[in-house]
Amino acid sequence: MFHTVLCDLLGIRHPIIQGAMQGAGGPRLVAAVSEAGGLGVLPTFGGSEKELRDDIELTRTLTTRPFAVNITPIGRAFTESRAAICIEMGVPIVTTGRGDPGSNVVRKLKEAGTIVLPVVPSVHHALRVEAEGADAIIASGMEAGGHVGRVSTMPLVPQVVDAVKVPVVAAGGLGDARGFMAALALGACGIQLGTRFMATVESECADWMKQRLLESDETGTMISSLMTGKPVRAFATRILREYEAALGHADSAEERAELRARYLKELRSAPVEDRTMAAGEVAGMIRDIRTVREIIEGIIEEAAVLAGKLYRMSREEGARTTDSATPGRTGAMKN
Ligand SMILES: Cc1cc2nc3c(=O)[nH]c(=O)nc-3n(C[C@H](O)[C@H](O)[C@H](O)COP(=O)(O)O)c2cc1C
Repeated sequence: MFHTVLCDLLGIRHPIIQGAMQGAGGPRLVAAVSEAGGLGVLPTFGGSEKELRDDIELTRTLTTRPFAVNITPIGRAFTESRAAICIEMGVPIVTTGRGDPGSNVVRKLKEAGTIVLPVVPSVHHALRVEAEGADAIIASGMEAGGHVGRVSTMPLVPQVVDAVKVPVVAAGGLGDARGFMAALALGACGIQLGTRFMATVESECADWMKQRLLESDETGTMISSLMTGKPVRAFATRILREYEAALGHADSAEERAELRARYLKELRSAPVEDRTMAAGEVAGMIRDIRTVREIIEGIIEEAAVLAGKLYRMSREEGARTTDSATPGRTGAMKN
C-alpha cells in the first residue's frame, strides 16, 4: 500500500526506519524491526569496536533482512574506524547521526557500495551531505529524542524536500499512522521513529524508562546540554530542570562546565525519579508497550484507513474548500 522509493532503495517492505538508539535498541530490537518489514539500525555511539562487530554478528543470527549501522561522528578516528568495520563486514546501509561524517568517510562508504543516509537538522546540512553523496536524507526536527537541532519537523521536512534531489525521510515527533501520513504529505518518502520503539517488548530500555514513557505527557521531555555538552531531548526531571535553570544564570564557560560536572555527579547516585534518558515529545502519545510488529503493521494498516478517509473528505468537502486554502495560491508558500 505505501511502497515508496525508500522501500526500493533499502530493500524493505514498509517505509519505516527505526532510528539508532544508544542504550535502548540493540540487536534484538533491530532484528525485530527488519523482520517486521522496516529497517532496524544498530547504534555505535559510545560503544567499542568489538561491541559493534559482536552486535552485527548477533543481528545476523536473528534476521536475514537488511539492517543498518548508525555512526555518530564523535571524532575523526571514531568515525573512520566504525566506517571501516561496516565496509569490512559488508553492512549494506549506514546512517550517520548528528554532525558531519566528513566527505572522506562518505566517499569510502560509497566506493564500497554502502547506501548512506545522514540524519540532518537543517537545510544547510542537507545540502552539504547531498553534495558529499548521500543516497537519501533523514530530516529530523527538534521534537525528536536524542541530539536535536533548532527546527521543528513540520517546517523542516518540506524545506529539505524542496532543497535536495535525493529522497527525504522525516523524523522527530512521529509515532503513529497520523504522523506517517503527515510526513508523506510533507513530501517525505518514509519515516524514522525512535521514541515509539523504546516502548516495545523488544527494546532494551530498563523498566523505569518504559514506565516513564507510559506516564509522560506532552511536556515530559526537555532539551538540555547537560548530558553530553550538546542539546539533547530527554526525560525532564526535577534536578535536570533545576540545573538547566542555573545554567541560564551562569556567566562564564567555566561556571557552565562546573554545573555540568556537578549535575553528572549527582545523576550517578540519583533516585529513579531523577534519572533521565533521551526521549522525544511523542512520549506523551505512548499508552502501551507493544511488539515491534504490532507498531509497524498498525501504522501501515491505520494509515490506509486514514488515506481512505482523507480521500473521501477531499471528494465530499472539496466544494466547500476555498481557493485561499489551496497550497501555492496563498502566496505564503515559497513554491
Ligand atoms: C534513547 C535514544 C537514543 C538515541 N541514540 C541515537 C544514536 O545513538 N544515534 C543517532 O543518530 N540518533 C540517536 N537517537 C535519535 C533516533 O535515532 C531518532 O532519530 C529519533 O529518536 C527520532 O525522533 P523520535 O524520538 O521523535 O521518534 C536516539 C534517540 C533516542 C530516543
